[in-house]
Amino acid sequence: MVGLVVRTPDFLREGWELGLRLGSPLPPPRHLLVLGMGGSGIGGDLLRGLLYDRVGFPVTVVKDYSLPAWVGPQDAVFACSYSGNTEETLSAYEAAGRAGARCVAVTSGGQLADRARADGIPWVRIPPGLPPRAALGYLLGPMLGALHRWGWMEGLEEELGEAEAVLRSLSARWGPEVPTLDNPAKQLARALVGRLPVVYAASRLSEAAALRWKTQLNENSKVYATWNVFPELNHNETVGWALAGQPEGLLEVVVLRDPEDPPRLVRRVEITRQVALGATGFHEVWAHGRGRLTRVLSLVLFGDLVSVYLAYLNEVDPTPVAAIDELKRRLET
Ligand code: F6R
Repeated sequence: MVGLVVRTPDFLREGWELGLRLGSPLPPPRHLLVLGMGGSGIGGDLLRGLLYDRVGFPVTVVKDYSLPAWVGPQDAVFACSYSGNTEETLSAYEAAGRAGARCVAVTSGGQLADRARADGIPWVRIPPGLPPRAALGYLLGPMLGALHRWGWMEGLEEELGEAEAVLRSLSARWGPEVPTLDNPAKQLARALVGRLPVVYAASRLSEAAALRWKTQLNENSKVYATWNVFPELNHNETVGWALAGQPEGLLEVVVLRDPEDPPRLVRRVEITRQVALGATGFHEVWAHGRGRLTRVLSLVLFGDLVSVYLAYLNEVDPTPVAAIDELKRRLET
């Protein structure tokens, strides 16, 4: 798993190249939807965060069997399933076809590839044989490449180039060969042993990264974890700390910070720490790079590595996800 995590920049570049092959410029949609569950859905969450205030159409991520009633022929859909056999995504894909939306599939094969072929829609074949969550670059990259190719968003090529270069150097700095003394990802993993991680995004940019941290801690480290985002958490969860902080030493807070977090949100993080978090273990993890893609993916990379190092410290294999496999098996009968 750790070998795959440090290859994220390669997968992102390869995924981007695959996405570039998706035809020629197209008029932007009324609405863009990304269908995908778990490791195949997080690319949609990241895309939504990146596009939020940069394109003229909304992005909706669907993690369900059905679609909103408003979906129609002017909308575009990315149906993402690494295996191609995830029933929620297949069902939502069928619904998108019935609604007349323009669909593109991103998959390594399975039923989604079969249906894409039968329906004659464009699809991106990504390499098989990886745990879906380790294929993030292959799931996000094609969508970014396609958006660039279709002319739906400016500046993506430069952002991709920066992300690839910065992630490569960060992988070397935080990678498995770097000893704990010089490796902040290993140090944070140490601090999380025996604790329940609470991952907070300081602002919207890092919201999808915080969700990714939580799900990677669940699947790789096999621990329970929660996540939330400022400022919303100040309107409910902050009160829950009155009792949640007891007994001390149970929870460990990690705040994902970005140098461009708006000042009001920075203030909120400081005050929240003072009024609610008390003596709870508190860590800040900073984004690296200039462009938004790089900044958010640097947070994702750090979290992915922490989750694998924590698995090692917990003496569990990060790769198998027995409970997910068993659940899918039982649902088949
Ligand atoms: C496994 C993982 C899961 C899967 C999810 C959907 O590594 O991360 O969350 O991604 O069960 O399956 P796929 O990705 O095949 O559509």
